[in-house]
Amino acid sequence: MSRYRKIFNRLFTSIFLVVLLSINVESLAQDGAALFKANCASCHKVDKVFTGPALQGWKDRVPGDGWIYKWIANPAAQTDPYATTLKAQYKPTVMTAFPQFKKEDVDAIMKYVDDWKPPVTDVPKSGAPDGSGDSLLFGILTLVLALIAFILLQVNSNLRKLSDEKEGVMHPEPVPVYKNKTYLMAGILLLFLVGGFYTINGAVNLGRQKNYQPEQPIFYSHQVHAGTNQISCLYCHGGAQDSKQASIPSVNQCMNCHKSINKYEGPDVLVRDDGSAVDGTAEIQKLYAYAGWNETTKTYNPDNNKDGIPDGARPIEWVKVHNLPDHVYFNHSQHIKVGKQDCQTCHGNIQQMPEVYQFTELSMGWCINCHRETKVDFYNKDDKSGNKFYSIYEKFHNDLKNHKMDSVTVEAIGGTECQKCHY
Ligand code: HEC
Ligand code: HEC
Ligand code: HEC
Ligand code: HEC
Ligand code: HEC
Ligand code: HEC
Repeated sequence: MSRYRKIFNRLFTSIFLVVLLSINVESLAQDGAALFKANCASCHKVDKVFTGPALQGWKDRVPGDGWIYKWIANPAAQTDPYATTLKAQYKPTVMTAFPQFKKEDVDAIMKYVDDWKPPVTDVPKSGAPDGSGDSLLFGILTLVLALIAFILLQVNSNLRKLSDEKEGVMHPEPVPVYKNKTYLMAGILLLFLVGGFYTINGAVNLGRQKNYQPEQPIFYSHQVHAGTNQISCLYCHGGAQDSKQASIPSVNQCMNCHKSINKYEGPDVLVRDDGSAVDGTAEIQKLYAYAGWNETTKTYNPDNNKDGIPDGARPIEWVKVHNLPDHVYFNHSQHIKVGKQDCQTCHGNIQQMPEVYQFTELSMGWCINCHRETKVDFYNKDDKSGNKFYSIYEKFHNDLKNHKMDSVTVEAIGGTECQKCHY
């Protein structure tokens, strides 16, 4: 007996150890991902040149002998030939030093890089908007369970038949499965349910285009303008503050700067999403063609045809990325000036996008969820802070005072009423 116990104990400990170890490996990998996102992702992509080089395959390029640790701890101090060429290539951008990272941290990050796989391209999914992966899993599970139930039923009926035969009870000839009315009805019902589910979900998703990224007439990079050169969003999209529309800048507004900036020599490497390189200077030439600007004489073309604009000038036909259906009312100033929301909450990190894409789903659920969660800048009668407009909500002021509520959400002021968003 005690021998069995010994074996059992040993087995138990080793299983425990294996489990512990695997949990550890998992958390190490997670740390790598988190560290990468927090520290490196602003400049590096794994598979694409970004501000810094693509990191994939680093092991085959960099010198061995712990170079990677020295590099990450202090890139500026590395003067070996490899580091020197690398720095020359990415001049004038230099990599930040990370002296705080231990060897294990660097190992975890680089392991994350090595293990990284490109995400499955996010084509608009038919199926449920959220957790469609789960619903597939549940679907398969349901099918398997149904199959098992079916088999058990068959076994059960066969057994019953056998025992009945033994006792000499007679039965009419059994109906085959495909003619059995109950099974047929159940099958048809199932088809209706599944078909209906997918039809309705597909219909709801019609016209939704998360990740939509059209090719624009000029490769205009927000990363270059709003990111590296820190031009304020409102310089070009001033409407976002004062009106419903955020507005797209006119050619004239571009020319305020580009009369003098006629070359692109910035640090950001310009590549399209498909990986093809872009010549920034040639793109600026395209802008000149739209503006009717003569680069050699540094003047606008004369207006010989008397239409009030320089000859040859025409507006740039930017392709609209975000587009709500016509039955929805959305107002930027309400969200920017009154609601104090950041552009990035709804549009993503535009300042890091070489080409703009639609970051969110722009679905009704998305609007409503935010209205349920977000607090308005409610007026505080005691210190007179907040949005004075809300001084009229007597009931909420009383409820706040009596601790019946602790904050006022957009929903509470009517942000989920149909007619607020629908014409
Ligand atoms: C401020 C931007 C920036 C950040 C942040 C940054 N890097 Fe870099 N990295 C660069 C640039 C630029 C280079 C190219 C060399 C140079 O000019 O300094 C580079 C080069 C490298 C290289 C050499 C790549 C090769 O192809 O040989 C590695 C490895 C690397 N970085 C890892 C990291 C890791 C890991 C982190 C996060 C802990 C990180 N970098 C954070 C900008 C950055
Ligand atoms: C120098 C001018 C300029 C600046 C600065 C600028 N943008 Fe833009 N933005 C444009 C132009 C031009 C377009 C149209 C071309 C395109 O979609 O890439 C545009 C397009 C957009 C779009 C997509 C519009 C659509 O068609 O749906 C969004 C969203 C946007 N900008 C947000 C921002 C945010 C947020 C910032 C600040 C981080 C910013 N922009 C800074 C010029 C600018
Ligand atoms: C406030 C000044 C300013 C405004 C306004 C401005 N730009 Fe630029 N633009 C720059 C700067 C700075 C650069 C980078 C030059 C460099 O680094 O060599 C640049 C670079 C570019 C480039 C080359 C890089 C790239 O993004 O492909 C293009 C094309 C360009 N601008 C187009 C436009 C267009 C189109 C507009 C109007 C919608 C515009 N710019 C408005 C300052 C401006
Ligand atoms: C609460 C979410 C939200 C915030 C915050 C937000 N936007 Fe938008 N933006 C939208 C929606 C939704 C659309 C599509 C509007 C439409 O189709 O009528 C849009 C459209 C745009 C467009 C296309 C032109 C237009 O007006 O339709 C630009 C440019 C733009 N936004 C820029 C900005 C800038 C710049 C900021 C920050 C100052 C900003 N947005 C903040 C949700 C937002
Ligand atoms: C990031 C959060 C956020 C998202 C996403 C968002 N909103 Fe809002 N919305 C707000 C806030 C905050 C206010 C309250 C502003 C205030 O204090 O009055 C608001 C107010 C409104 C109002 C005025 C409500 C009222 O009672 O006066 C309308 C209409 C509105 N939003 C429409 C939309 C639509 C349409 C969408 C989706 C396309 C949307 N919002 C997405 C945050 C959001
Ligand atoms: C906060 C803003 C907001 C409120 C409040 C709101 N809607 Fe919507 N609704 C939207 C947006 C945005 C869309 C477009 C969604 C899309 O294109 O996927 C939409 C789409 C719809 C559609 C078209 C079907 C679809 O999914 O595209 C119907 C029907 C609808 N809403 C009904 C209602 C009703 C009924 C109410 C009140 C109970 C309501 N909405 C309240 C923002 C709102």
